[in-house]
Amino acid sequence: MSVLIKGGRVVTAADDYVADVYADGERISLIGESLDVPADRVIDAGGKYVLPGCVDPHTHLDLPFGGTVTIDDFESGHTAAAFGGTTCHVDFVFQSHGSTFAEALEQWHGKRNGRAIIDNGFHMAVTDLKEGGTVEELATLPDQGVTSYKLFMAYKGAAMVDDETLFRTMEAAADTGALVMVHAENGDAIDILVKQALARGETEPKYHALTRPPETEGEATNRAIQLARVAGCNLYVVHVSCKEAVDPIARAREAGWDVWGETCTQYFFVDYTFLERPNFEGAKYVYTPPPRPKENQEVLWNAVRTDVLSVISTDHCAFTWSEQKALGRDDFSKIPNGGPGLENRLQMIYSFGVREGRISLNRMVELLATNPAKLFGLYPRKGTIAVGSDADLVVFDPEKEVRIEAATQQSRSDYNLFEGTEVTGSPETVLVRGTVVVEGGELKVEPGYGQFVKRARFGEELKPASAPAAA
Ligand code: URP
Ligand code: ZN
Ligand code: ZN
Repeated sequence: MSVLIKGGRVVTAADDYVADVYADGERISLIGESLDVPADRVIDAGGKYVLPGCVDPHTHLDLPFGGTVTIDDFESGHTAAAFGGTTCHVDFVFQSHGSTFAEALEQWHGKRNGRAIIDNGFHMAVTDLKEGGTVEELATLPDQGVTSYKLFMAYKGAAMVDDETLFRTMEAAADTGALVMVHAENGDAIDILVKQALARGETEPKYHALTRPPETEGEATNRAIQLARVAGCNLYVVHVSCKEAVDPIARAREAGWDVWGETCTQYFFVDYTFLERPNFEGAKYVYTPPPRPKENQEVLWNAVRTDVLSVISTDHCAFTWSEQKALGRDDFSKIPNGGPGLENRLQMIYSFGVREGRISLNRMVELLATNPAKLFGLYPRKGTIAVGSDADLVVFDPEKEVRIEAATQQSRSDYNLFEGTEVTGSPETVLVRGTVVVEGGELKVEPGYGQFVKRARFGEELKPASAPAAA
């Protein structure tokens, strides 16, 4: 099966030019002006952008979390992703206490097998190096394509690790060439603040933010950076939400340390006041770190513009408001933490980042596709448009006007963080490895099409499985 995408504006992190893109099979084999090649399928992209499929390095599909299970599994989550122009993501395998990493990995492969629509890799969330997995076992993961270890410095009594486990994992990563990812909040201090708030009868959603002040994120971010420096590992700080966490990352990067940071779409648009919405509506915005005071939004735009932060992910961790979020109706600490977002990242960042002049089109591609692919061992198979790369492509209509609504979304959640937002610019046709997966508002492949991607170690390139077919 071959496909020729004609006359689109091809945009990568570095380039922007009008060309035809031809894929014979799964990979791009020709890029050029007015290509004269026979193709099974021709897509007219005149007046449209041709973007690399977006890569989301931070999602939680089918995850038992907060007393329930995230509502999007690999089928509905991948459908949402594909409709939103994301063609590859990296999801978190959670090691449960007492389990080996092999057991956890097998369980997560079982969740995606037969359901996947787009391609995905896995990170390993390390929760226990005492009674379950071992440092020796951690060292075996990169050979299985799992080249990043995630640690939670918060969620005390659940996924949180102590500094010993954090540091031992960092040392292991320094040896194995894996990337260490941290959820950086001071979980001990937050646990005390939560208990004190509940003892005072403070139960509403807004107390989720008031018991997790920005300084707790800043402190943990700095701690992780300093410990990573001692251990000699590469560090990636997930879902940075505020100035207090941006500042230590900026200092480390200025000093040339091996530290990278990510923020998520919602932190640019949802602020603390959303948590104050009456009638429990604030619960929709209970995710961690919490929505911050509005002035942080400009700090984050500046950080992504200047490469203090290098990635925008979604942290898609979807629940329903009517049932799952209601678990915490009388106690904010029981509201499952997380929100949906896989579907709307490209629309939101294009509309309000690029169209409103905050970031360039090339920088958007870098933040949503190229940098996540490079940092997580997927590049150049994913994250760019080049001969030999997977034909993961988005034909994007920059003028299409869409109103974002839960009623029409693919996610199984019953709300949308950006409900009612009018965006201009939306994916029209989406291809994964040369096959159209979304077109005309319809899913075009069966669950099971998506492949597991064994990622390269940090700093190494992921080569195509075989050379591209000759044209
Ligand atoms: O609230 C969130 N972010 N839920 C997902 C788990 C995490 O902390 O990333
Ligand atoms: Zn987190
Ligand atoms: Zn997350």
